Amino acid sequence: MKPKFRLIDLPVIHDQRGNLTFIEQSRHIPFDIERVYYLYDVPGGSERGGHAHKTLHQFLVAVAGSFDVHLDDGVNQQSFHLNRSNFGLYLPNMVWRTIDNFSSCSVCLVMASGYYSEADYHRNYEAFRAAVDRSK
Ligand code: TYD
Repeated sequence: MKPKFRLIDLPVIHDQRGNLTFIEQSRHIPFDIERVYYLYDVPGGSERGGHAHKTLHQFLVAVAGSFDVHLDDGVNQQSFHLNRSNFGLYLPNMVWRTIDNFSSCSVCLVMASGYYSEADYHRNYEAFRAAVDRSK
């Protein structure tokens, strides 16, 4: 099984006054956006994530600085270093993720397909793996 997560390039309007990137729903990311949140003021050495979502799809962009995203869909494990504002990482549902190695002043922008719901989280890795195995 190929990984369902993937990097997606975003358009850049290059300009002497500074670059501009835009994200258009459905054209650049494969879901409708219902929520946007961002991680910022992350102390060095912190780890975020440590969960998977049952139904939620997300798209992560390093709009400032850089960080590493470690992914596991139960079959494929892969790490990505996000360090530019002109690409992002698409995470469909049922992908366990941890995020670490945040540079100073980094900002992780997250677009999500639904509102926050604690019931949508797998926060236990073994329970997540069992759910993946049941779906095979
Ligand atoms: P969590 O998703 O675990 O953060 P991360 O994956 O980035 O480490 O959320 C941390 C806390 O914030 C948790 O108590 C739920 C709350 N939260 C909201 O209230 N709304 C949101 O949109 C998000 C993403 C989290």
